Amino acid sequence: MAYFDKRWVGVFNYRFRRRFKHDLSKLERAVEYILDTRPDLAVCTGDLTSTGQPGEFERVRKIIKRLADSTVPLVYTPGNHDCYVKRPKCVAAVREAFFEANQGRCAFDDLPRRFELGGAEIIMLNTSRPSNLLCSWGFVAKEDSRRVAQWCEEPKRLPRILVTHYPLVEDHIWIRVRHRLFGQKELVPVLESGKIDLVLCGHVHKHFLKVDERGHGQCCAGSVTRNGSMVEITCEEDRFSYRTVTL
Ligand SMILES: [Fe+2]
Repeated sequence: MAYFDKRWVGVFNYRFRRRFKHDLSKLERAVEYILDTRPDLAVCTGDLTSTGQPGEFERVRKIIKRLADSTVPLVYTPGNHDCYVKRPKCVAAVREAFFEANQGRCAFDDLPRRFELGGAEIIMLNTSRPSNLLCSWGFVAKEDSRRVAQWCEEPKRLPRILVTHYPLVEDHIWIRVRHRLFGQKELVPVLESGKIDLVLCGHVHKHFLKVDERGHGQCCAGSVTRNGSMVEITCEEDRFSYRTVTL
């Protein structure tokens, strides 16, 4: 059935491009590193799969299960590749993986969610949903945006971290027009005003930081399976510092 929906684009992309660039063994190394170092919180910002098919999720779930079953708090927001098509089996697969990777803390339909975890206030926002055939667009639903903005009006007790797949702010929006996010307009000033301390995002394969002198702003860890690296963040007082971990 993959040839009757968007998955044929994804399967083609995987066969001729992604499979030569992405190494799943790096994800295994990332899990080992996290289990060895026991951080306060581990975050995965999505695109665990290429085309969101049940078999792909099965393969990845085997790798992250040790981490999901551990006492290290884990947060996962799905990427656009994880929410590739509307086919019921694929939708069920991402929902199951979501529930497991978030250690049963919340269900996919509960998003956006806010909770205190690992010494931070975490806001989880889903921006991924099936898009058209040739684009990888993300969307912030109006209702979700309003809810997140309302939460951010409340006084902060802990560092406030927004976890989502798409970068909230991108420099080269017209170059990346096929990969952009829509509907984030209301949330950008919330980030810029400091009501959100840090956005952790993915989607862009290359690691980038868009932060001020205190490390507040936006961090994209880049692709673990492509770069063989991830980012370790330390928060001391009001300051975030970043270190790239080579796996
Ligand atoms: Fe993505």
